[in-house]
Amino acid sequence: MSEPSKNPQKPARENAAPLLGCYDDLEGSCAHAWALLARGVKDRRSPFHTPGLATVTPAGLPEIRTVVLRGCDTQKLALRFHTDTRSGKIVDMQQQPHAALHFYDPGAKIQLRVRTRLEVLTGAAYDTAWENTRPMSRECYQVTQAPGSVLPDPASVVFDARATRDGADHFAPVVAHVREIEWLYLAARGHRRALFDFTSPDAEHRWLVP
Ligand SMILES: Cc1cc2nc3c(=O)[nH]c(=O)nc-3n(C[C@H](O)[C@H](O)[C@H](O)COP(=O)(O)O)c2cc1C
Repeated sequence: MSEPSKNPQKPARENAAPLLGCYDDLEGSCAHAWALLARGVKDRRSPFHTPGLATVTPAGLPEIRTVVLRGCDTQKLALRFHTDTRSGKIVDMQQQPHAALHFYDPGAKIQLRVRTRLEVLTGAAYDTAWENTRPMSRECYQVTQAPGSVLPDPASVVFDARATRDGADHFAPVVAHVREIEWLYLAARGHRRALFDFTSPDAEHRWLVP
């Protein structure tokens, strides 16, 4: 039986995808994670465009759903998505504002688990987000019945632009303040896992056992 080795690096496979330059670079991996998030906002075809958002319900049960990533502010360590004020995720965050976003890019073989604190934007930040929505997106918020409520038949959904101020009444831009990002990079030579900690100015990023 072979002795356990401290760092059993596997030899590079001939047909393996080229390694990222930041493979062994902790700060470089962190910068790459933020670059992928920023691209997820702009590139509709990026797998990072539609993360899973996990919350905890008032009953203490886990819940998860897909959202569209609408904003990424690297300086402010903040992500943004939009939803309906009456949705379940808003009910969840009112009780428990901590939530996780899950991203996986199968081509890049990178998973991000982003731990956040959610906040509904108000005032000028709300106005900016609303002004930047397209008419097609506004339609979703013009539904008069609360999302998730029971319908007698599927055609009985009522959209009313006037009664909902074009949908503005039900529009909720939500900022996800990033507390931690957990990085997982699958590579044939050996996986890389790291924790990028933003919970305090002197918090240190660190490598983890994959
Ligand atoms: C590709 C895709 C994108 C979605 N984007 C959003 C979104 O940006 N905001 C949103 O509230 N719901 C979005 N949804 C719908 C949610 O996944 C979910 O069904 C809905 O918001 C109700 O969730 P809740 O009751 O847990 O709040 C999306 C669904 C899919 C499949």
